[in-house]
This record gives sequence, C-alpha cells and structure tokens, in this order.
Amino acid sequence: MGRLRSVHRCGSCGAATARWAGRCPACGEWNTLAEEVVSEGAQAPFRGSGIGEGTALPVPLCSVDLSGAAPRPTGLAELDRVLGGGFVPGSVSLLGGEPGVGKSTLLLQVLRSVAETGSVVVLVSAEESSAQVRLRAERLGPVPPTLLLLEETDVRAVAGTVEATTPALVVVDSIQAVADPNTAGLPGGVPQVRACAEYLVRLAKRHEVAFVLVGHVTKDGALAGPRVLEHLVDTVMTVEGDRHHALRLVRATKHRFGPTGELGLFAMGDAGLAAVTDPHRLLLGDRRPGTPGSAVLAAMEGQRALLVEIQALWAPASSDSAPPRRSAQGVDAGRLALLLAVLEQHAGMVLGRTDVFASAVGGIRVTEPAADLALVLAVASAVTQTALAPDVVAFGEVGLGGEIRRVPQAERRLSEAARIGFRRAFVPLSCPDGPPGIELLRVESVAEAAALALADVGARSGTGHRLSA
Ligand code: TYD
Ligand code: MG
Repeated sequence: MGRLRSVHRCGSCGAATARWAGRCPACGEWNTLAEEVVSEGAQAPFRGSGIGEGTALPVPLCSVDLSGAAPRPTGLAELDRVLGGGFVPGSVSLLGGEPGVGKSTLLLQVLRSVAETGSVVVLVSAEESSAQVRLRAERLGPVPPTLLLLEETDVRAVAGTVEATTPALVVVDSIQAVADPNTAGLPGGVPQVRACAEYLVRLAKRHEVAFVLVGHVTKDGALAGPRVLEHLVDTVMTVEGDRHHALRLVRATKHRFGPTGELGLFAMGDAGLAAVTDPHRLLLGDRRPGTPGSAVLAAMEGQRALLVEIQALWAPASSDSAPPRRSAQGVDAGRLALLLAVLEQHAGMVLGRTDVFASAVGGIRVTEPAADLALVLAVASAVTQTALAPDVVAFGEVGLGGEIRRVPQAERRLSEAARIGFRRAFVPLSCPDGPPGIELLRVESVAEAAALALADVGARSGTGHRLSA
C-alpha cells in the first residue's frame, strides 16, 4: 500500500481536489466537499508499465457473445417497458427517489414476481428489520419460498450469499445504509457509497447476477450517493410522485441496454403498486369541466402522452406593501412568473396586485415548455372568471414576445386527446395536422389564444380584469 494522503471529494460530481473549498471547482456546487483518505499507490495503477508491455488483444465486435446480454423480465409490465424487457444478468441498476415514494415496495414486488417463476432472489435489507420486511411483503400477498432475505449492513457479506445461493436478482436496500469495512467514513458518505457500489458492480459482473441498488435522494440533492453512483452503474431509474397522491412515475435516465424515453406508470394502493394503463382516469377523474381556472394540457412524458389538468386561482394581493404571492405546485415556479409577465405585457392583463396560485393536478410534475400555453390559459381563465370549453386541450411553448412556439410530438399529443374524447386543441400556428376527430385551433400569440379561449364559452362575472385583445 502506498503513502496515505487526504483529498477533498465532491459529494455531487465525485471530483477530488487537494484543498478544501466552499464550492466544488469542478461542478460548482456549494458545501459538497468532504475529506477522504486515499492511498497514493492505489491512485497510480499505471506507474512503471512501459509502452508495449500489454498483451491484451482485441476481438472482432461482430463475434462478441450476446447470450448473456438478454434482459430477463421482471413480470411487472410497466417496469419491463421502462427497462426495455427487464434486468440484464451481470448489470447493476440504481433506483433513486425521495424517501417514502415507494422504492422498497416496488422492488419487493419485483423480487416476488421473479421468485414466483422459481428463481432464487435475494433482498439485502440494510435499513429495515427482517420482521418489518416480512410484514410489508405479506401485505402484498403470499411470499414465495425462493425469496431470500439477508439483514445485513456489511457489503462484503453479500458475496458469500451470492456464491451460496446463485440468485437471479439481488436487491440492496439501500446503498446509503451498507458499508465496506475496508473503507473509512460513515455509511452514506461519498467514500463508502462509492466503495460499496464498486464492490457490488464487480460482484455482479463476476457472478452474472443482476443487482438493483436503492439510492435515496432528497429534494435539494444533498445526500451523497446517486450522482456519484450514476457513473458506476449501467442503469439509473427514478421513482417520482407526490406522497399524497397515488400516481408514481418510473423512468430510466441512463440505460446501457435500451431506451431511456419510456415511462412506467403505477398507482400506490393498499396492496402496493399497481400498473396504471389508463392514466387519464387518475389524472382527470375528478375534473369539473366548466370551472374557471382549469385547462387541460396534452403533455408528453418520455414517449407517452398524458392529459394533465392545469389549475390556476387568483386573489387580490393581501397586502399593499408586500409583493404578491406566486405559488406553483407541479409546475415550474420560474416559468409561472415568466408567463404572468408575458400575460401582462402581451395580453393586457393586470396582475401586479394579484396573488396567483397554479398547480398540475394528480401529483404529477410537468416541466416541459409545451405546458406554457395551458398554464397561460388556466391563469387567463381564472382572472377573468371565464371557464374554458370542456372539450379543449392545449399545448405550446410561449416565447417572451408572447408568441406560441412549436413543440415536439404534436401528433401523439393530439391522438391521445382525441382518444379520450377531446374535440378541439389550442396549438401553435405551425402545428402539423392531427388525427381525424380533433379540430386544431392554431394560435399565434397568447393574446389571440386567450381571446379565443375565453370568448368561446362560459359566463363572465366581472372581476375588474380585462383582456385587451
Ligand atoms: P416505501 O416503499 O417504503 O418507500 P421508499 O422505500 O421509497 O422509502 O413506501 C412507503 C410508502 O408507501 C408508505 O408511506 C406506505 C406506502 N404503502 C402503501 O400505500 N401501500 C402498500 O401496500 C405499501 C407496501 C406501502
Ligand atoms: Mg425503503
């Protein structure tokens, strides 16, 4: 072993610097550097090897054996869709998400499903006790005997289990709770998380076993782990959703074996996560058509079109001195502020002394610019107290000049809207023709869109806000 020295490693990007600093010089994140002791010998694996010493020979790419690369289905169709078939033997996947979102539940269901085919699967539980895991598993149904449990926090103990049981799948819950006895630092810290993940990646490759690691992330991304881990693993998946709503979205943000645009939809219920095949029932089920402040967005999540209700509410600002309140849930707060400014400038709406609340309904987050037009229409509808027609959807990006800009995958959005029963769509001027059964209302500007949408239907109750267009 070489001489020991200390470096400062960034918990966000993994870069090492000699000196501590408040801000990581590599990625610019604040307060992410933590001290780590490294061996200099281990840092220089190539020292002393001159050119020409290597004996490894390349092979023709077309002759590489593919038999091990076939994904193995998990039996959960929504997850298999995200993974492009299932988990690949020898691969390591990371499943990230906020605490309580349903990571352990989803993976327990995967383990049960694979175990039901007769394969041995192992859950390494480092966070919950065996009894807790059994209670949760029994909530989901009878537990197959080939689902094995290892309550363990020492990552090196996993190797013995893998050798003794040759499982098809191993889940480690979570990577922040296991530790490598040969590495310094607390579990969950960057050195530990990295050492444990590197160890498990080697183990997975050596035994051709698919591993899934659970990784917690907090809202501000402060926890060391997933971002460092992303480089080490083959697949990064996330579970998203609002804990107070049933809908859960699973997607792959990195995937070495397949697509990354696919979205899996689940609903959290009494018996765990159930596949959602008709998301509009969950997302639009409680909509009250004809209510001011509501607009339906034809959104895209990956390759999947979703109809999402966008709601807005306004109230006179509570104080003359304080700035008016702007609250955004499930939509981007910065985007909302920008769109309100566009409405003032380009549609003649007076919003300066108005509190505005906007949200996407159903616990879903819409971040794509295509949501702009629906958000603008929801706000315009709220402040004029004029309901939009119940059969219209909208999508389009709003530019700073008030113009409505083209967005991708218009055909898919329109097809899904038509399938669910919407008959008209506010779309950008350049939008290509849609499927039969849905009329396109092509609009050039927010002023035109708001005027057209609000003149369409609904009773006006004077609010003091006017539209100039
Ligand atoms: P969990 O899988 O423990 O989340 P994570 O591992 O991401 O921290 O999910 C916990 C939440 O899910 C908890 O609030 C209870 C809820 N839940 C259900 O609603 N139904 C169920 O059948 C199960 C098992 C959990
Ligand atoms: Mg958990």
